[in-house]
Amino acid sequence: GNRSSDGRVPIEPQTIDAPLTRHAVFLVLTVAPGSDSLDAVRSVLSDVDGLVKTVGFRDLGASFTCTVGIGAAIWPGLAGLPLPRELHEFTTIAGARHTAPSTPGDLLFHIRSDRQDLRYEFERLLLEALGEAVAVEDETIGFRYLDTRDLLGFVDGTANPVGDHLPESTLVGEEDLAAAGGSYVVVQKYLHPLASWQALTTEQQEAIIGRRKADNVELDDADSGQKAHKTLATIVDDAGVEHDILRDNMPFGSPGTATFGTYFIGYSRELWVIERMLERMFIGDPPGLHDRLLDFSEAVTGTVFFAPSAEALSNLGSPPPPPPPAPATRPVSSTPEASPPSDESDPPEAGTG
Ligand code: HEM
Repeated sequence: GNRSSDGRVPIEPQTIDAPLTRHAVFLVLTVAPGSDSLDAVRSVLSDVDGLVKTVGFRDLGASFTCTVGIGAAIWPGLAGLPLPRELHEFTTIAGARHTAPSTPGDLLFHIRSDRQDLRYEFERLLLEALGEAVAVEDETIGFRYLDTRDLLGFVDGTANPVGDHLPESTLVGEEDLAAAGGSYVVVQKYLHPLASWQALTTEQQEAIIGRRKADNVELDDADSGQKAHKTLATIVDDAGVEHDILRDNMPFGSPGTATFGTYFIGYSRELWVIERMLERMFIGDPPGLHDRLLDFSEAVTGTVFFAPSAEALSNLGSPPPPPPPAPATRPVSSTPEASPPSDESDPPEAGTG
């Protein structure tokens, strides 16, 4: 059974649940050292919704959205908010055969649009505004392929949560109030040796993925013990509760340069769920029986971000709210002379930075 809706907090998230579009860009940046860069980034991020309107309004039918993710290394200096409880950098996962590397990235812009020119225009204005404060680590331009297939030829995204289950699976709730309405985001760029994949029979490919290629129907795992990708990526906790994530994978590449890839992006309320999926894929379940999809998919990047709520993002530029005023009267004590002296002249505690 799936989790109940307990624990949701009514805070406006970013547009994480936006529909899959025809085009998407995954833009990963690092922030230059120094507080000037952080100030510049903070001011651009706090007005990113304005920039989305500037571009998106040109064609409201194009489903233009942009989700911003922030990495653990710059979170404290940039956000001035407590670190979301599970946020840390991507942990390299080394299986016997395949490794999921951890690669740099302080900021993620997940840009979705049905029009290629709008995503171009937005990126142009965004990078112009950020200027020298950032360096581009990776820019991957994805496209919808046929009926939402990956370049391996399979329909990708079917098992995504829908309805109420979507915010329940993707948005932090009352378990971490300071981060409520936000979402953990993991990205990985994968390259496919397409010729060797195509050398498999359709039945072999279907066994690896766990669905039929033509009509997308789910298949049972083999008796051999080798689990399909869809099974290794299914996480059920000790209480029998299934933990889902939202995937917005996009194909990318070009036949002219023999580049064929899948950009994986997963949004989750709980980072451990995606980490568990990766462990099951790369190390295997049981260990040794890794996900055969990885024999045809090389992970070349891996980065973790947190996409704060829309409110937290737009407040990034504002000074932190003042501390609550001290109570006007001290608790009444029978011997007021004996109460400890007031500490009002002490400086506030410095942040840990
Ligand atoms: C399912 C492709 C990487 C998590 C699927 C499906 C396909 C697919 C075709 C079956 C249809 C569907 O439900 O979407 C790929 C490709 C990848 C990739 C081409 C990269 C080369 C990953 C990674 C994760 C992941 C890295 C997680 C860390 C999932 C999940 C499901 C799934 C959760 C649904 C399982 C279920 O049936 O409940 N993937 N995937 N995938 N994949 Fe992947």
